[in-house]
Amino acid sequence: MTKLGFIGGGNMAEALIRGLLQKSLFKPSDVIVSDVAASRRRKLARALRVATTSDNLEVLGKARAIVLAVKPQQIDAVLNQIGGAIAPSRAGSRRGGKPRASRDRLFISIAAGVTLSRLQSTLGENARLIRVMPNAPAMVGRGMAALVPSRGASKADESFALKIFRAVGDAVALKDESMLDAVTALSGSGPAYVYLFIKALADAATSEGLPAGLALRMALKTVEGAEYNMRMSKLTPDEMIRIVASPGGTTEAALKRFAAANFSGIVADAVKAAAERSRELGRSN
Ligand SMILES: NC(=O)c1ccc[n+]([C@@H]2O[C@H](COP(=O)([O-])OP(=O)(O)OC[C@H]3O[C@@H](n4cnc5c(N)ncnc54)[C@H](OP(=O)(O)O)[C@@H]3O)[C@@H](O)[C@H]2O)c1
Repeated sequence: MTKLGFIGGGNMAEALIRGLLQKSLFKPSDVIVSDVAASRRRKLARALRVATTSDNLEVLGKARAIVLAVKPQQIDAVLNQIGGAIAPSRAGSRRGGKPRASRDRLFISIAAGVTLSRLQSTLGENARLIRVMPNAPAMVGRGMAALVPSRGASKADESFALKIFRAVGDAVALKDESMLDAVTALSGSGPAYVYLFIKALADAATSEGLPAGLALRMALKTVEGAEYNMRMSKLTPDEMIRIVASPGGTTEAALKRFAAANFSGIVADAVKAAAERSRELGRSN
């Protein structure tokens, strides 16, 4: 039996499969992917040598763990299809002559805003479910994901999911699903905040006389270098700031302006808006 299945073979699925194969956690023959688009199936089969199908139920039949990797607006169609084919512990539907209890499979959903209770309503109260919030840098192996297991998931299920998402970056397990709103506002939306800061830095340096292309290149490397320096040093942000900013110097002049304009307050306000929007979207679906 194939070990790992994907329903939806888009950008996220492709990034995850690539990471898993590169890290030799799975072989191409361990993976099966379904997608409605023939072009996506062809691309995945050619680039990653995995099995592909247009039939989501074939993935259900062949994989022990299934990543639900369709867009949130497509998840209901997929859940209804799976729900009709599996037997949530109380029911006993059959397909192809074989009964399939929902607890036979681990389902890992990456659909943003789709809650565990929504997944449980079709896959069963006791289903083994993991809800994950990954982020876009997973596409280049530098993602940050947070996941929450359902009541029916085991420690082994949680470890398995962590292993999958650590193939494309870092991943942590949380106990409280409501924390995923803050996660969404931080690591989910966060890459866009960083791009905004990089753009603002580069534009400002262009105003100070640097050519635009050079300013962007230097802003990007400054952010990358600062991140790596802090990670390697294991110091706090305040300690790192003190290393760069000498009293009466250039950095201090800039930091005073940031403080006067309430930079930290603006960031807090923006993150709060993202978390509130995440809560709102979670309630509406
Ligand atoms: N991308 C990110 O940065 C990011 C971050 C956090 C979470 N996520 C979550 O990851 C999930 C996948 O995102 P993505 O960017 O990989 O999306 P994507 O590229 O659109 O991939 C989804 C794929 O599933 C296919 N599909 C649609 N309906 C289907 C069905 N009923 N059965 C099988 N396949 C179907 C889509 O085909 P069509 O295109 O023809 O519809 C598409 O190829 C989303 O739920 C998103 O919320 C993504």
